[in-house]
Amino acid sequence: MDPEHPDTEDAVGTLHDAALVLGPDDQVLWVGRAAADHGPDADHHLDLGGRAVVPAFVDSHTHLVFAGDRSAEFEARMSGAAYDGGGIASTVAATRAATDDELRRLLADRVAEMRDQGTGVVEIKSGYGLDMATETRLLRLAREVTGEVTFLGGHVVPPEYRSCRGDYVDLVTGPMLAAAAAYARWVDVFCEPHSPYAFTEDEARAILVAGRAAGLGLRVHGNQLGAGPGVRLAVELDAASVDHCTYLTAADVDALAGGSTVATLLPGVEFSTRHPYPDARALLDAGVRIALATDCNPGTCFTSSMPFVIALAVRELRLTPQEALWAATRGAADSLGRDDIGRIAVAARGGVTVIDAPSHRHLAYRAGVPLARRLTTAP
Ligand code: NIG
Ligand code: FE
Repeated sequence: MDPEHPDTEDAVGTLHDAALVLGPDDQVLWVGRAAADHGPDADHHLDLGGRAVVPAFVDSHTHLVFAGDRSAEFEARMSGAAYDGGGIASTVAATRAATDDELRRLLADRVAEMRDQGTGVVEIKSGYGLDMATETRLLRLAREVTGEVTFLGGHVVPPEYRSCRGDYVDLVTGPMLAAAAAYARWVDVFCEPHSPYAFTEDEARAILVAGRAAGLGLRVHGNQLGAGPGVRLAVELDAASVDHCTYLTAADVDALAGGSTVATLLPGVEFSTRHPYPDARALLDAGVRIALATDCNPGTCFTSSMPFVIALAVRELRLTPQEALWAATRGAADSLGRDDIGRIAVAARGGVTVIDAPSHRHLAYRAGVPLARRLTTAP
């Protein structure tokens, strides 16, 4: 994932017979041919036996801080029920009722599950509090485990504000945002005309503009349940990322190609909601930069597995294994505005992942097999 490396063999930066040196905090200190000068001395040597090493996956879209269980909603959907965002209210109720310690433990277990499957950096959104106290709590807990924290007070209009939506938008753009800015790096909004609970284009614009004025970077949930204004709005405001992109018009693809917003694809959501998969090839053919992430959340996709997402991307989005790996590492790093993660290069952070196989292709080829694990210098 570093095509600028002098020994690289292809467009994604593959090196065969390679070695690397990891420093404290799993920072890459050296990488190159195993037979060449090994760079800095290492305290410990580990022979990986020809296994593939890739950058640790960057999961750039998750909703990990929540309580409650919605497996029955998933079961109903598999028998034909539609997803419209209404189930979010039950997670909000369970999350508001949970203590900090309960949420911290649930979050830690989910992050550990991700790390055990090869993920390095993870982005975490709030959005299951939807009141001042609980949103702030969720952001504070997320900040304990990652710097990539996203304020999603604009997830849905909570039940108590359904008859006065404008008052909720005022809360999100006012006091809630002011409290969130201490913990969050990003602001996100669910802009979706096909859900009665999500936000209209004008409401979403107000939330994003206020977030930017508070110093936050912009992300958007757009075009998830049908064609709509989300992608256009994200490009208009030069958001770092627009996520889902399930239903894209030709005009949406053109807008993305003409802007710098990354299109983040979440094929686990299509898997778990029985929606059609997005046209990833149209995006790539138009030159749009794409990312892959899990969207790990209790409603639309409760997987923590980037290898599963990569397998779906190859099988269902028709990405090549190289394109899928790129989108799950460099692409996702791009969507977070980071060039220090998602690659194996000197000074890169975020860790590296070993595939228990001779190449990255096996991630999709051997779908469902736990091949990926983080390589770490930590005890
Ligand atoms: O990314 N689209 C909105 N938010 C989540 C789902 C949230 C939920 O159903 O709990 C998503 O799909
Ligand atoms: Fe999401």
